[in-house]
Amino acid sequence: MRSEQPKMIYLKDYQAPDYLIDETHLTFELFEDHSLVHAQLVMRRNPACAAGDPGNDLPPLVLDGQQLELLALALDGQALTEADYQLSDSHLSLQPKAASFVIDSSVRIHPESNTALEGLYKSGSMFCTQCEAEGFRKITYYLDRPDVMSKFTTTLSAEQHRYPVLLSNGNPIASGPEETAAGKSVRHWATWEDPFMKPAYLFALVAGDLWCVEDSFTTMSQREVALRIYVEPENVDKCQHAMDSLKKSMRWDEETYGREYDLDIFMIVAVNDFNMGAMENKGLNIFNSSCVLAKAETATDAAHQRVEAVVAHEYFHNWSGNRVTCRDWFQLSLKEGFTVFRDAEFSADMNSRTVKRIEDVAYLRTHQFAEDAGPMAHPVRPDAFIEISNFYTLTVYEKGSEVVRMIRTLLGSEGFRKGSDLYFERHDGQAVTCDDFIKAMEDANGVDLSQFKRWYSQGGTPRLAVSEAYDAAAKRYSLTFSQSCPATPGQSEKLPFVIPVELGLLVAQGGELPLRLAGEAAASGTSRVIAICEAEQTVIFEDVAERPLPSLLRGFSAPVKLSFPYNRDQLMFLMQHDSDGFNRWEAGQQLSVQVLQELIGQHQRGEPLVMDQRLIAALRSVLDNQQLDQAMVAEMLSLPGEAFLTEISEVADVEAIHSAREFARLQLAEALYEPLWQRYQDNRDVSRSSTYIAEDQHFARRSLQNIALSYLMLSSKPEVLAACLEQFEACDNMTERLTALAVLINSPFGAEKAKALASFADFFKDNPLVMDQWFSVQAASALPGALARVQQLMQHPAFTLKNPNKVRALIGAFAGQNLVNFHQADGSGYRFLADQVITLNALNPQIASRLLAPLTRWGKYDAARQSLMKAELERILASGELSSDVFEVVSKSLA
Ligand code: TRP
Ligand code: ZN
Repeated sequence: MRSEQPKMIYLKDYQAPDYLIDETHLTFELFEDHSLVHAQLVMRRNPACAAGDPGNDLPPLVLDGQQLELLALALDGQALTEADYQLSDSHLSLQPKAASFVIDSSVRIHPESNTALEGLYKSGSMFCTQCEAEGFRKITYYLDRPDVMSKFTTTLSAEQHRYPVLLSNGNPIASGPEETAAGKSVRHWATWEDPFMKPAYLFALVAGDLWCVEDSFTTMSQREVALRIYVEPENVDKCQHAMDSLKKSMRWDEETYGREYDLDIFMIVAVNDFNMGAMENKGLNIFNSSCVLAKAETATDAAHQRVEAVVAHEYFHNWSGNRVTCRDWFQLSLKEGFTVFRDAEFSADMNSRTVKRIEDVAYLRTHQFAEDAGPMAHPVRPDAFIEISNFYTLTVYEKGSEVVRMIRTLLGSEGFRKGSDLYFERHDGQAVTCDDFIKAMEDANGVDLSQFKRWYSQGGTPRLAVSEAYDAAAKRYSLTFSQSCPATPGQSEKLPFVIPVELGLLVAQGGELPLRLAGEAAASGTSRVIAICEAEQTVIFEDVAERPLPSLLRGFSAPVKLSFPYNRDQLMFLMQHDSDGFNRWEAGQQLSVQVLQELIGQHQRGEPLVMDQRLIAALRSVLDNQQLDQAMVAEMLSLPGEAFLTEISEVADVEAIHSAREFARLQLAEALYEPLWQRYQDNRDVSRSSTYIAEDQHFARRSLQNIALSYLMLSSKPEVLAACLEQFEACDNMTERLTALAVLINSPFGAEKAKALASFADFFKDNPLVMDQWFSVQAASALPGALARVQQLMQHPAFTLKNPNKVRALIGAFAGQNLVNFHQADGSGYRFLADQVITLNALNPQIASRLLAPLTRWGKYDAARQSLMKAELERILASGELSSDVFEVVSKSLA
């Protein structure tokens, strides 16, 4: 907890470090009731700063350190006394006497009672670490900043029988039993050496009773790398998918970016208590077990895909993050935006590219756009923060990835590769900035990206309004683009962005025109990328013999809110004929949005709901199209979510949105009952007669099977209930079982529902990741009474507030996915969430702060809800000693 008012840190105040740490020698003695950390730091004055000052005028050395009990301190072997240094609750300062020196410190820490899961902590019976962003300072006194890179050697010792496995970064160099004066003890030790310079945030250690699954990988230069995934003994049967994903990632990075792995061993450790998805510590990635463990019986298709993506993401960080790291935390997107882009492309290459893009865009537009429109909005490269943990955001990650994607779109794949080659080569071993990344792209391609860089410095989601004009006599078609960007906190005026718009022109027969822009001698291609750089810009197309229909922003070529006055018939035409698969889906979504907004209006005016039959016709033809990828059919059948409909509303009417959407689903279910039933049965037959395979075509098949089931169940027909129960009981995988359970939970069949919930919990009670799913489907159920159910489930023996996965699965799912229940007009949902945030603030500030997000969105709701939400934020603010994490989010939300 903070003792003073937390202070804002600014990018403009960045200064290079006064001192460097060439070598870091760590010794950990791990015990049940405390741990001891001895650090030897071989330091010198930073030559980059020393230039101006004479050698005898050394600045003080200020080391970061929090929650450490200092036991001993020495400078060049001389023990220091309290008179020789200053100690505060966040720093240790002393005056060096020479430009090079060695600091030795010993501290006592308490991993066994660390519930924040930052620094050294225990997850179950195992010791592990999480140092990013500023956790290393809770382990020892250090220059805990990413531009201080050091060579680490680490020795850890622990009781042999409780902790047979002792791991750290790099290569193992020695190990053995601990010798004491009285002879051999029950303890043992191991020493690891990491030959690569790294910042402290990439440090890791693990000690536990772990089993490992082993494999190996031969790199492109024929080096043999040992691959190990360490898990608790009961989970060795759930590692194969992660191992396969790792090997695919290693090959992909060689083939796509020319990047080879650099150590002789690569390790992944799965832990149950983890604040985020995973962490890219050098040679020793630590993962939330939810992002490693996957097998048919316990993990859904979505979970399998998440494991593949996160394994790839962390592996890719070895180059984009570790070999080339960030100068300071304002540059976080340098590694995160780039690495998300890399893992998204990997997933697109391994699975369906269009489906991956649809999923990512739907997620970005629902969640990142909401963040960008709220009180915590910030640029991809923020310029100020109180608590860096609050900036591991959708903006830094997801929008940051879109920014890298736009660079590739503008430069082309080859130009982009030249840029990334230059970036890795030029900055290997360095801590650099987003500007350095851009500079490499510019230098490799001979282009000027200075205006483009506004994507890093300006927050908010740009709007791009497009209008058309057609001159039949001149055969000339023109599109006028006007961009604007709403104000965000601290930024009222925005300058124009460079917006790459990929587009094509469709004609009535369904073909696409060769595109010749005014001034060009000849047409080239039917899909082109046009860079919109001005506030208003007109693009003229020649040789256009009939009025075309534009297909705009293909593949979602820029993270903007595009508007073009399409009517519903035009959208239906695009759904059928656009050559861009993403835009076919997008046309369907826009059609659905128009239809749903009409229904929302009818609901608000108290009129009977009447749905436009064209949506039914459009989706019928999608269902009838046997040529279409089944995953695309499933995506097209998914109506825009309530959270997305909220995001695009001026003032979101929670009840109207829910009622309108449910009405539309029911209409579709009734009108399309026959084709849905057919598609369901065809796919269930295949599932029934084959064993589970975690591959794209099977993901596709099951996604259509499952969305069909969810529609069919709305009919409440006994034959559907029977099918649902058959699927629930007889299937061989979690994808089918969980869908059947979720569909049952939301149905009116009370007895069957209760029975299924009980049998599921009984069967999977010892598998925490499966129990997370069980909590989530109940927390997300829109039926009345959800809050009471959630409160009751918090008493379930499998639930604990100390485990972030449980908090997310139950409380997070309720507040984030169950909008009608969370936003109950009496404010009970808000009060409940604030209570949990206040409790968690003392246990785990990072989780408390993330859980808060739904309350920060008060600006979207009616006056009554706004005041209820703000009152809860005020209550949190007044609740006592707040962590800097929670303080920053609450105070900014109320500002
Ligand atoms: N760098 C991690 C990633 O791959 C993010 C991360 C993991 C993290 N654990 C964390 C960030 C804890 C902050 C706090 O994206
Ligand atoms: Zn990352």
